[in-house]
Amino acid sequence: MGEAADERDWWRSAVVYQIYPRSFADGNGDGVGDLAGIRGHLDYLVSLGIDAIWLTPWYRSPWADGGYDVADYRQIDPRFGTMADAEALIHDAADRGIRTIIDIVPNHVSDQHPWFQAALASEPGSSQRARFWFRQGKGADGAIRPTGWLSSFQGHTWTRAKNPDGSDGEWYLHLFTAHQPDLNWTNTDVRREHEDVLKFWFDKGVAGFRIDSATLLVKDPAMPEAPADGVLVESGHHPYIDRDGIHQIYQAWRRVADSYDPPKVLVGEVWLDDVSRFAQYLRPTEMNTAFNFDFMTRPWDAGALKASIDLTLSAHEAVGAPATWVLSNHDITRPVTRYGRQDSSFAFAAKRFNTPTDLGLGTRRARAAALLVGALPGSLYIYQGDELGLPEDEEIPPDAIDDPMYFRSHGVDPGRDGCRVPLPWSPDPATNFGFSAGDRPRAAWLPQPSWWGSYAEASQDDDPQSMLNLYRAMLKLRRSLPDLVSGDFSWLPAGSADVLTFRRGDIVCLVNLGASPVPQPAGQVLIASSPSDGGVGADSAVWVRTKGV
Ligand code: GLC
Repeated sequence: MGEAADERDWWRSAVVYQIYPRSFADGNGDGVGDLAGIRGHLDYLVSLGIDAIWLTPWYRSPWADGGYDVADYRQIDPRFGTMADAEALIHDAADRGIRTIIDIVPNHVSDQHPWFQAALASEPGSSQRARFWFRQGKGADGAIRPTGWLSSFQGHTWTRAKNPDGSDGEWYLHLFTAHQPDLNWTNTDVRREHEDVLKFWFDKGVAGFRIDSATLLVKDPAMPEAPADGVLVESGHHPYIDRDGIHQIYQAWRRVADSYDPPKVLVGEVWLDDVSRFAQYLRPTEMNTAFNFDFMTRPWDAGALKASIDLTLSAHEAVGAPATWVLSNHDITRPVTRYGRQDSSFAFAAKRFNTPTDLGLGTRRARAAALLVGALPGSLYIYQGDELGLPEDEEIPPDAIDDPMYFRSHGVDPGRDGCRVPLPWSPDPATNFGFSAGDRPRAAWLPQPSWWGSYAEASQDDDPQSMLNLYRAMLKLRRSLPDLVSGDFSWLPAGSADVLTFRRGDIVCLVNLGASPVPQPAGQVLIASSPSDGGVGADSAVWVRTKGV
């Protein structure tokens, strides 16, 4: 790819590393990750071999939902640092060839956002309330919720507000927690404000945005009841999921992104079962890419993964967008844990405490999965800590749990903290395993398990067999092999229902998901997920060069 094309099309094959800033690295020793911590570890990211970082929200926030409750989109949360720190991070990363993508949360704001505070202080029917969804309750005294819609965080989606005089008043809609009131996207203030926020950060040098909860913005103002799960979602007539009108919003955003040279990039969090509706978001006038949750949620099963790869590639091809490959993120059970379970698919509703897990098996599969996704056409997302092979931490004491999913399910759902535990950088527990700077830092904001240090970067650095060195070697190869960027993709005969094997140009990737070894493809082995003696063992993968050997 020429340099000019690279400047414009980098996102089509980029490796993007997701940072959850609260848990990546703590630069001031207060037990909470921050921007100084990220700046201090940029060389680690360079040595990993990534192209971009995506940071989950860094804005001022009460952290009722880990920052997905934004109180001010133009300020950095003081616990993370200052605007100068953010500018320095974008700049330092760019100096090392790393682009910065940040999160935008357009569906809702924090209940501490000045707009919502103004709405609460204003009368029903006021322009301040019109930026949200306030509705009278049902029943004689308005005490019944306007709809029975249920939250994906469990529980109801309406909370009753007080009138300015203190009496019970209207209800407001919140698809997530009561601290996250939903914005009304028919309101012109809401539209203008978000386009201004995009420009504000684009002008500071961010390369793009990850769009949170991207299918939920448009609501049916008639507020009908939502039918039982799933029904209507595929018609565009669900009261709040994937309504047809949503595309205009992203078309307007794309015009903003495309007004820059090189153009900026939009990456959507688009959770939809129907891939053709998913692909609508990726038409050339809308988002550039979106997370491939279909693939991410499938079990470790050759047929299931192959079907997802085919579905993904054909849906993306139809709109000319590159696919993305994602094994996890800050909401999802860590891959080494998930793949070590009898049911290795992922579903929020299925998460439970004390699910039996074989971490050895899960780790072996996660290594093979890394080589699988690394060889598929499109861009790759790596969630911080997956490159260390961190398991889900399921030992967080109940009084330390922070995630609202746990509380709203009354402790039935373990929540998402288990994949958000501060990263281990060294084996030293006194420094929160190297997470925190200084000799005597405060305890990490989420407790780390005693065995965390064995997964630390420093513990893996010199071990050629470590997950970290597998990722480094894989990403280095990916950079040096143009076939993995632009080589045609085609399936090869697998010889077994448990094997996936495909070609990208001259490179062949074979993944054995079965229990017995299979023959290695002919050619030069470039990388293997487990040691091999001529065959590809159970739950293992290889990349082989078939030409010029
Ligand atoms: C997205 C985020 C998740 C957050 C939710 C509400 O799904 O990834 O972490 O809780 O949106 O903003």
